This record gives sequence, structure tokens and C-alpha cells, in this order.
Amino acid sequence: MSKDDELLSQAKAAAARAYAPYSQFRVGAAVRAGGQVYSGCNVENASYGLSICAERVAIFTAIAAGAKRIDGIALICVDAKPSAAPAGEVPCGACRQVIAEFAAPDVPIYLGSGRVMLLKDLLPNPFALSAS
Ligand code: THU
Repeated sequence: MSKDDELLSQAKAAAARAYAPYSQFRVGAAVRAGGQVYSGCNVENASYGLSICAERVAIFTAIAAGAKRIDGIALICVDAKPSAAPAGEVPCGACRQVIAEFAAPDVPIYLGSGRVMLLKDLLPNPFALSAS
């Protein structure tokens, strides 16, 4: 799968806006949805559990702007050690489930190292609500 340079560069620009004074781990994300690009960065809090990941900021921004489906995602963890890849550059489990809410299983996830992964390989069996 080819790279999406525009998404990657928007993710990188978003990472520069990260608020990560506690972890010092800056993350940027960008999503393509309905022909538009929306970006986000991680935003931490002194009450650590209130922090939010870059992917969820980007996705919720897209949905709040009226987007319906996500066609591609780029994610850059600018402070990750290259030797820690891919573990240090993939979306966390919570973000994978949020991606699954708005994207198809084969949505491409472009990573800072140049790797491209598919959601279905990162989260093979997402939870789906089906109440009786
Ligand atoms: N983080 C993200 O923004 N996305 C992920 O998928 C993994 C982790 C952020 C959360 C926290 O601000 C910092 O990286 C360290 O975990």
C-alpha cells in the first residue's frame, strides 16, 4: 500500500502541538474522512487518566465536524525509539476500538517509520454492541 504523504505530514505537524509534559512522548495523528483531513495530538492531564491520545482527538474532531467514515489514518510518535518499532508507534488498544467504530476493517494506518498496517490485523475482533 502506498504512503499517504499529506496525512503523514499533517500528523507530524500535529505532534508539534502535543501537550505531553508528563510522558514527554509526543504523538500526532491525522485522519482522512469525506475528502477532508482532520488532525489531533495527545493532550495530557495532571490527573493522568484524563489524558487522551492523538488518534482519538483527530477522530472525534472529524466526527464533530460532520464526517461519517474514516478512510485512512496516519500516526506519528515522534519521541518513540526507532528500536522500539513497531510497538512504539502503533495505536493503543483503546484507540483501535475507536477506529473500528468509524472505519472499515481494511482501513490503512500509516506509521511514522513508513510501515502501513491494517486495522483488521491490529484488532481482529472489535467489540460491537448488539443488545437483545
Ligand atoms: N498515546 C497516544 O497519543 N496514542 C497512542 O496510541 C498511544 C499513546 C499518548 C498517550 C500519552 O499522552 C503518551 O502517548 C504516552 O502514553
